[in-house]
Amino acid sequence: MIVCVCNALRERDCREAAGMPEVRRAGCVYRRLNCRVRCGACVATMKAIVDELRDERAARQMSRSEEPLVDTTQVQVE
Ligand code: FES
Repeated sequence: MIVCVCNALRERDCREAAGMPEVRRAGCVYRRLNCRVRCGACVATMKAIVDELRDERAARQMSRSEEPLVDTTQVQVE
């Protein structure tokens, strides 16, 4: 699917760029893909992609931080 017609940006490419940890805003995606907003019709979709991936990253980090620091299944009691 094309997200941005003006720059011919495919959703797959936008998601790959938006998935980078340093990408926090839609504008970063355009910069990473060496283009910029023209008509603006795609900005809401780009923002939704960035927000979705950011939320997924945060959820993964949260679930990792809830894991015990020590693997209690491997601890041997003497
Ligand atoms: S559709 Fe993306 S700038 Fe026009």
